Amino acid sequence: MNDSALQVQGLRKVYANGKTALDGVDLQVSKGAFHALLGPNGAGKSTLINILADIVRPTSGLAKMFGRDVFHERAWCKRHLGVVPQEVAFDPFFSPVEVLRITSGLFGRKPDDAWINELLDRLGLAEHAHKNTRQLSGGMRRRLLVAQALVHRPSLVVLDEPTAGVDVELRRSLWAFMRELNRSGTTILLTTHYLEEAEQLCDHVTIIDGGRVVADQSMRELMEVVAGRYLYLGYGDDFELSEADARALSAFRPRVMSGGICLRLGGQGSEGHGFHQVYEAAVSRLGIPRKVEIRQEDLEDVFIRLTGRARHERSRA
Ligand SMILES: Nc1ncnc2c1ncn2[C@@H]1O[C@H](COP(=O)(O)OP(=O)(O)O)[C@@H](O)[C@H]1O
Ligand SMILES: [Mg+2]
Repeated sequence: MNDSALQVQGLRKVYANGKTALDGVDLQVSKGAFHALLGPNGAGKSTLINILADIVRPTSGLAKMFGRDVFHERAWCKRHLGVVPQEVAFDPFFSPVEVLRITSGLFGRKPDDAWINELLDRLGLAEHAHKNTRQLSGGMRRRLLVAQALVHRPSLVVLDEPTAGVDVELRRSLWAFMRELNRSGTTILLTTHYLEEAEQLCDHVTIIDGGRVVADQSMRELMEVVAGRYLYLGYGDDFELSEADARALSAFRPRVMSGGICLRLGGQGSEGHGFHQVYEAAVSRLGIPRKVEIRQEDLEDVFIRLTGRARHERSRA
């Protein structure tokens, strides 16, 4: 399709140690989109991004950027792509300004000092512009990576957890900046651990797990259709769900949560479970709760439900 900024088809990566990191991933990012790529640790997000950035070689599959073959038209694609990698590595002898001027040169551009200064300013690096990068904190280096990815004004920007380890205030200014970039026409693919970040910024979400796509929808659809309502019944901190009760309530996909239980309320149609049906079924097994709430799932709940994992769970210690 010619309205896509990025099209990935059947992408597979098996690392030398035999680990399958991507197991046939399809992904389409529309031109102008602010697209979230989410998934638990080890899902394969960085592998996908590193393949686009030419850091990792794919085992098989296709990728096109604005209709151009990523693997055969590398030079063209590199000029139009900005990648913020997850790992931070800089030559410690250069200052941020130098890093940005050198990076411009790598893209065959004359350094645009006005743009470089704007980037440094917007990313809160202006006062550190002439320090050695080794004097910068982790958060500052991460912001310098963002500046570096944007210095050649790419049409597609891919960010691999750009806000990890960045404090709340700066995270917000980074959000504002990314939003502005997107509004001015830049397509953004964002990987993040902060689901509320994706929920606030992105208009489309792809969730991957174990190297496969488990959800791919517009944010609105995901929130309206996939995200459901559920009933929370609070029983107190020592609440435990026995296996027999879990089995009896399995139609409502019970989840133990903060001293109680969450049960899914069905949406519309014949599969729907109304409040009374769910409530009575729960009370007949668990007794009368101290607290009753109807909640709307947010992106984090959807993520946990689809991947069976909590967002901060680490697969690597
Ligand atoms: N260089 C590598 N060699 C072998 N396995 C790797 C390598 N890089 C990543 N992996 C494995 O591939 C899987 C996907 O990793 P990664 O793409 O980093 O996931 P994510 O970014 O979603 O956390 C993980 O199981 C990880 O351990
Ligand atoms: Mg990663």
